[in-house]
Amino acid sequence: MGVVVIDHPLVQHKLTLMRRKEASTNSFRRLLTEIAALMAYEVLRDIPLHDVEIETPLETTVGKVIDGKKLVFVSILRAGSGILDGMLDVVPGARVGHIGLYRDPKTLVAVEYYFKMPSDLAERDVVVVDPMMATGHSAVAAVERILELGPRSVRFVCLLTCPEGIATLQGAHPEVPIYTAAVDRGLDEHGYIVPGLGDAGDRMFGTK
Ligand code: URA
Repeated sequence: MGVVVIDHPLVQHKLTLMRRKEASTNSFRRLLTEIAALMAYEVLRDIPLHDVEIETPLETTVGKVIDGKKLVFVSILRAGSGILDGMLDVVPGARVGHIGLYRDPKTLVAVEYYFKMPSDLAERDVVVVDPMMATGHSAVAAVERILELGPRSVRFVCLLTCPEGIATLQGAHPEVPIYTAAVDRGLDEHGYIVPGLGDAGDRMFGTK
């Protein structure tokens, strides 16, 4: 499966608006939510459907529905919440998990401070969301914690990544597909994606 770059024109247009340093906190957050909803169409393309009998105003027929409860969106705090909101807009019945991870600024290694998941992951498909997959360390840490619980499947969704992040996650877990809106050039000396868009959490919440 590998890496799926979601190159739909609407996604690419909104991503360019987000990258601009002039984008306000409000518009950055709104655009991220909108992009996430658009990305959900591709990320969830192969989720199972089942038949239900329904009554239209004219007759009985059989329609197809997803089982939202079998989906779990796992947000890596804190920036994951922007993607989470957009995905919940299109699948409001999904369950939600949270993982708190911060990057040690010296080692760039992911340190866990919070973990809360729905029960019975064995019956559920998990979509891990984090806007920026930079070194890939947080992604690997999150995926490994979730795999311990034996989910039916795991996929990873980010807005931006780079070759280093992809190599780290695919090296550790080649079975986990990666969905992204773009693969940027690389990382700077502080572990930021370049050209990137800066610190996604700070830009979403206006904390810098
Ligand atoms: N986290 C961010 O918010 N931005 C980056 O560029 C890398 C990690």
